[in-house]
Amino acid sequence: MCGIVGYVGKQSAVPIVMKGLAKLEYRGYDSAGMAVWQKGDLKIEKTAGRLDRLEDKLKQNPINGTVGMGQTRWATHGRPSDANAHPHLDSEEKIAVIHNGIIENYMELKEMLQKEGHEFHSQTDTEVIPHLLEKYYEGDIEKALRKVLHIIEGSYALVVMHEDEPEKIVGARKDSPLIAGLGKGENFIASDIPAILEYTREIIVLNHGEMVTITEDDVTVTDLEGRRIEKDVYPVTWNAEAAEKSGYPHFMLKEIHEQPRAIKDTLAGRIEKGKTDIVLDEIEFSADYLKKLKKIYIVACGTAFHAAMVGKYLIEHFTRIPVEVDIASEFRYRDPIVDDPEDYLMIVVSQSGETADTLGSLREMNRKDVRIMAITNVIGSSVAREADDVLLTRAGPEIAVASTKAYTTQLVAFYMTAIKMGQIIGRLDNNETRDLIDALLDLPLLAQKVIDANENKIEKMAKRYSSKDDIFFIGRHLDYALALEGALKLKEISYIHAEAYAAGELKHGTLALIEKGVPVFAIATQPDIYAKMISNVQEVKAREATIIGLGTEGDQEIDKHSDETIHIAKTQKYFTTVLAVIPLQLFSYYAALERDCDVDKPRNLAKSVTVE
Ligand code: G6P
Repeated sequence: MCGIVGYVGKQSAVPIVMKGLAKLEYRGYDSAGMAVWQKGDLKIEKTAGRLDRLEDKLKQNPINGTVGMGQTRWATHGRPSDANAHPHLDSEEKIAVIHNGIIENYMELKEMLQKEGHEFHSQTDTEVIPHLLEKYYEGDIEKALRKVLHIIEGSYALVVMHEDEPEKIVGARKDSPLIAGLGKGENFIASDIPAILEYTREIIVLNHGEMVTITEDDVTVTDLEGRRIEKDVYPVTWNAEAAEKSGYPHFMLKEIHEQPRAIKDTLAGRIEKGKTDIVLDEIEFSADYLKKLKKIYIVACGTAFHAAMVGKYLIEHFTRIPVEVDIASEFRYRDPIVDDPEDYLMIVVSQSGETADTLGSLREMNRKDVRIMAITNVIGSSVAREADDVLLTRAGPEIAVASTKAYTTQLVAFYMTAIKMGQIIGRLDNNETRDLIDALLDLPLLAQKVIDANENKIEKMAKRYSSKDDIFFIGRHLDYALALEGALKLKEISYIHAEAYAAGELKHGTLALIEKGVPVFAIATQPDIYAKMISNVQEVKAREATIIGLGTEGDQEIDKHSDETIHIAKTQKYFTTVLAVIPLQLFSYYAALERDCDVDKPRNLAKSVTVE
């Protein structure tokens, strides 16, 4: 999610690291910082805000040294601030650490370290690492890091410098990417290739559970027991633009492929296999509070609104609290009914946290003193700052205008919220909760399975349908909410007219538009309404539509009624949307590609609509 660059060589480290960070700003840009070894001292400069703020600070207090590392950050723990920016330091300010990822057990580690007298200066999960390194340091930073890696849980790309071992930078990887770049008399470390492409095209990619030490003349990779690993050196053939997209032709495709990781990160540290606790950051709802609620309003725009619809179905199902879901541009001007503010909860959903209408709605309810919970991807955003409670989706920066990984992580945030509320209110017992949690934890793997099993087939399919003028999406219940998102994706990037309909509503008008050969996506993942859905499919089939069925693994019934079918991996009926949206995203992407559309920047649209 964040970007890291490190340098060891003969040149001045600051400009090299700064240039590298500038290439990675698309990965995160809410704060930045740097550590450089200068004549026996570890010098640190860091600041909230974009890289130019760091640049200004470095102009005022220049640092000069030939070993250094920096980060441009996308916050997941602790709002963007000077103190929360990386690097983080130990008590003696001799060890500097930069970290991408999430340390899931940081709370207990922090507590333990605090009891031992370590003082903390930030709200980040990362800060436990320099303190743990301090605790275990006996003159060998690699040895200390190895110990620490056995203690911390979660995902990380880590880079570490120690004042007393100035000739090296040490790194480690689990889940978050980390690479080493090979130069002559200089070496590099980075989270992503674009950062070092100007200096070298020879890279070593670290695998999970590997550590690396870079010095001026050497790059050594070891495992967690300190055994040396021989690594292949890859020649990079990408140009700078392709490198930013990790080799994918578009950000949208990259972001579709990032979804298993984004879902995993959003679940990380919040639920655990076999357990029944759901830790939603600092959000606390008491049973009394929830039982007293007359209504929950969920408000959002665009794709976030479609996630909100799923949220409504699930919260109502698990809590029996009435939920109203509304488009923000409508909600803010319709004078929503609030007699006693204590009786209402508002949930706003916004990837950017800056959408003008969503913010306007939030402020409207704030004026009425209603408690507001935000589901957002940007920790320091206006929505995050102005809401009472914030649940962060950890999708990382989403660059493509068409939202993909933000949507799936919003769904996951709603899954956890709905189950947690159901548990508190007493409608879900421990066994049910445990089963649901276990099913949630399987989603990252299943999402990967859906991509792997379907991408080639969908690419060919999308090409065949790309010349159509109209495509319909039908579904019922959760599948209706998904149909809306499928249609939006297709129209926004391929400009094909796409319409979503609640399948049971077709006969009240839209059926008149169905004629021979019109493609209809029929989404049928919901067992409780399956038979009704199949009748609706038959209604369109009778008008000679071409049916593309979207069902779950093992469902042969949908095959019988469809011209072709896509199957998604099996999960609990509540969670099918997060898997079934992936084929629809891929379909839209490949259809847009075939039509030569500007996939990442569709005409007339913006990523974040900050004006009304
Ligand atoms: C724009 C984007 C959509 C997004 C919507 C809401 O229209 O193109 O992809 O869903 O804004 O954005 P938000 O940042 O509030 O989720």
